[in-house]
Amino acid sequence: MPLPEAFLQELKSRSDLADIASSYVHLRRSGRHLVGLCPFHGEKTPSFHVYGENGSFYCFGCGAGGDVITFVRKIENLDYMEAIRWLADRAGMQVPENQVEDGLGKLKTRLLEINREAARFYHAVLMSPEGRPGLQYLEKRGLSLKTIRSFGLGFSPESRFSLVNHLRKKGFTDEEMVQANVAFRGRNGGVADRFFGRVMYPIIDLRGNVIAFGGRILTDQKPKYLNTSDTLVFHKSQSLFALNFAKNVSSQQMILAEGYMDVIALHQAGFPTAIATLGTALTAQQANLLAKYAREIVICYDADEAGQKATARAIPLLRNAGLQVKVLTIPQGKDPDEYIRSWGEQGYARFKQLLDSTGNDVEYRLEKIRRSCALDTAEGRVAYLTGAAELLSTLENKIEQEVYAAKLASEIGVDKYAIQQQISKYASRQRKQREQKEFQSFQQQRAGLRDRVNPEKAAHLRAATAEEALIGALCRYPEYQDLAAKELPAEKMLTGFNRKVYSVILDCGKEGKNFSLTDIADRFQEEELAAIAGMMARTQDLTIRKQDVEEYIRIIQWENEKLQAERATAGEVGDIQAYLENLKSMKK
Ligand code: CTP
Ligand code: MN
Repeated sequence: MPLPEAFLQELKSRSDLADIASSYVHLRRSGRHLVGLCPFHGEKTPSFHVYGENGSFYCFGCGAGGDVITFVRKIENLDYMEAIRWLADRAGMQVPENQVEDGLGKLKTRLLEINREAARFYHAVLMSPEGRPGLQYLEKRGLSLKTIRSFGLGFSPESRFSLVNHLRKKGFTDEEMVQANVAFRGRNGGVADRFFGRVMYPIIDLRGNVIAFGGRILTDQKPKYLNTSDTLVFHKSQSLFALNFAKNVSSQQMILAEGYMDVIALHQAGFPTAIATLGTALTAQQANLLAKYAREIVICYDADEAGQKATARAIPLLRNAGLQVKVLTIPQGKDPDEYIRSWGEQGYARFKQLLDSTGNDVEYRLEKIRRSCALDTAEGRVAYLTGAAELLSTLENKIEQEVYAAKLASEIGVDKYAIQQQISKYASRQRKQREQKEFQSFQQQRAGLRDRVNPEKAAHLRAATAEEALIGALCRYPEYQDLAAKELPAEKMLTGFNRKVYSVILDCGKEGKNFSLTDIADRFQEEELAAIAGMMARTQDLTIRKQDVEEYIRIIQWENEKLQAERATAGEVGDIQAYLENLKSMKK
């Protein structure tokens, strides 16, 4: 059941996008709109635009875009209804609740119920004779019963149908189990447990819902871990293991570890702010999520090459989210779990010592460069200074740059200003490269090479470009809608996506509605809305006259006729081929 129109209108009028976005992004005015660093991807030159007049935003760097609801959804990791509730709370309004339990919402609730029931089941099995291998394994790895209980760890039985049978008895359907990804459908159409013979780690969201599982095999078999795939209630790239615990600790610091066992061992040892991603590299969304609960992140990945690479990738993401970053390196290439266990009773004290003596990310990276250079030779010192200057040039904070330049100068015995000059040189070169890269990726996107929303664009580039210009124009100048409707019926649009957008806009026009993204949000996917916001954004700085609109229409009509002509010829060829085939089959 859709929300009442009057409610939505009221909510919209009380939810100013510029206002809301400013609490996440530092926005400054530029002409008629606002500009800032995009919160949805890491960037150093602002390409995130907010357009007050039509309540839309668009990032020319990553293509994120939409209306105020999309913005809240993306930045707070919420679904549509959750975003509505969030906005209503903020605006002091009451959501007409009983009408909103739509089908999707119901299914999500069912999936969460399944996950909760499955977690209970796995935990009960772990504590029963059937779970002995699992319990022994966890105890061997040093976990206390208290830890096992507080993380709700479990064991999935070897039999392939234990959970499925249990859930059926509780009234869940096979389809629901498959949707929750706790079961899979075999070739014969029946369902079976997805996890068996594994220690189970439930993944819990910030509201306390079980949303997924990681399962570890007890032997050396592969894969070592099996994780829930993304479902309606689980998005790997937006969730973090143990953040539900860590967020309640009043500490400004969190420890980012690599694996489930590292996190659990750290919590047990007395570090309840340890968290981990779910078997994938850290994303910008996860970094932004962390920034809501912490000011500083200590990266504590494995010392192996993969861990170091992951560290190098995580640092800029965390920094761009406004977090301070430190990097903790564990001696002897151990992971946190092994390290703590190897120290037994002293685990807490030893790890605390590491934590307190950990340098920040700049020191960590300088140290890495220093180690690769032979400082006893002139060449080595030049290499070190050059590498260091290049690194320092990437720092946003000028004070930081200066502090390290001074440190380097006294360390190597060179003039501080020479180093600073070198830093500025690198900084301006990087700025140019960055701008070029952002421009290229934007161009590519515009050229339709990477257009996921409108895959037909690449094949009809000229037409699609005109279509998008026309759509952008009609959004800003509704007075041209009649003209467009008369001259260009929707079916003349060449590409499917633009055709749909166009006809939705014309429908709005017929109803005499003043068109805004929020009015049509329910008819498009998030990515699609972003694309529409992009079309609107690209016309912002242009004055569009009637002749321009007529020109767009002419191009589309012309391209359409060309296509019809081509199809007709292709049709002839097709006919000949069919004729030949026919002939062949008659001969046989
Ligand atoms: N991982 C995964 N799938 C695998 C291997 C690893 O999803 N096949 C993820 C898990 O989230 C795991 C993390 O990557 O926790 C780190 O991997 P690893 O260092 O191998 O895991 P540990 O937590 O150290 O596991 P253990 O100590 O149990 O061997
Ligand atoms: Mn480990």
